[in-house]
Amino acid sequence: MSGPNTNFDPVRVAALEPEALEEAVSTALAAAAAAAGLDELKAARSAHQGDRSPLALANREIGALPPSAKAEAGKRVGAARARVAEAFATRQSELEMERDARILVEEAVDVTLPTGRRPLGRRHPIELMATRITDIFVGMGWEIAEGPEIEAEWFNFDALNFDEDHPARQMQDTFYVAAPDEVVAHGQAASSHDGGHHDWPSSGLVLRTHTSPVQARALLERGVPLYVACPGRVFRTDDLDATHMPAFHQVEGLAIDEGLTMAHLKGTLDRLASEIFGEGTTTRLRPAYFPFTEPSAEMDLRCFLCHGTNPDCRACKGMGWIEWGGCGMVNHNVLRACGIDPERYSGFAFGMGIDRALMFRTGVSDMRDMIEGDVRFNAQFGMEI
Ligand code: DAH
Repeated sequence: MSGPNTNFDPVRVAALEPEALEEAVSTALAAAAAAAGLDELKAARSAHQGDRSPLALANREIGALPPSAKAEAGKRVGAARARVAEAFATRQSELEMERDARILVEEAVDVTLPTGRRPLGRRHPIELMATRITDIFVGMGWEIAEGPEIEAEWFNFDALNFDEDHPARQMQDTFYVAAPDEVVAHGQAASSHDGGHHDWPSSGLVLRTHTSPVQARALLERGVPLYVACPGRVFRTDDLDATHMPAFHQVEGLAIDEGLTMAHLKGTLDRLASEIFGEGTTTRLRPAYFPFTEPSAEMDLRCFLCHGTNPDCRACKGMGWIEWGGCGMVNHNVLRACGIDPERYSGFAFGMGIDRALMFRTGVSDMRDMIEGDVRFNAQFGMEI
């Protein structure tokens, strides 16, 4: 910037001459028009509108003019700068529109093209249900135990107080794997730790018909007090239809401690029912017979959908109750077979179908859908971890 003009006529300052201003404007307009892209425009703008541009310098010269000349010079410079600013703004929006149009073309997505998407795997709904149920037991402080699917007949029947001639032992119900003499000959006995004082090693082998044998295994392995849940696959010689499968899933519960009564059983079942089927779901016990419990009961579930109010209910078929499994107070003979003193310890046990629980909860009406392995079926149950 020049210093104050005191000894010459300051009106004629070169940078403020109309010709000079016109020249600066036309160079700036040409630069704006020539900018082929937004980056170029930015560079041109800083050359022609920036602090060191001829017009900015001219503007600064005004300050050194005598007051009488300031207004006129200010108008001229202002008009020149406005023209330049407008030219840059116009070019800016032209270039932005060009860019947007280009992006629309370049980045267009053909949503009809086939994708390389691979669907995520899912856990099987029965497995999900089993995990959900065992989680509930763990939440109550119970342990989880598992036993072999090929089971010693002794664990599956004898230890559970089944008579020699109990109908469940019939070939029609049970898949027999090996007779006692074959087991001895081939050393195939199911494994266990019972101190060797039982005759299971010489018993035959079956595909376990229920998860109850894990009761005896857990008692022998872990001793008392015992709170244990045993989920697993079981086998019966049933034909496959909508409501029967030769291989299905159960979860067994066993609690042995001092002073346990049927009230503890009922309370535990109600808690489980609420956790699995929704708060407030209760159970009902009906007298029944199982060799390994005395007294024994069938347990029903209050229909968690209609609570007994809908004659067309899909879950309870209008009955108001859903059959859920068996239960009872552990028979003294079972305790004795496992070396537990029934005078000191008592307990309860229950067993229910996992597949059935899944059917009630989800409205699956044909069990075969659950085992056919069609991923479209499994995928509907989502993914829980
Ligand atoms: N094991 C029985 C079954 O498969 C179910 C059962 C009934 C289990 C009573 C139990 C029980 O623990 O106490 O039909």
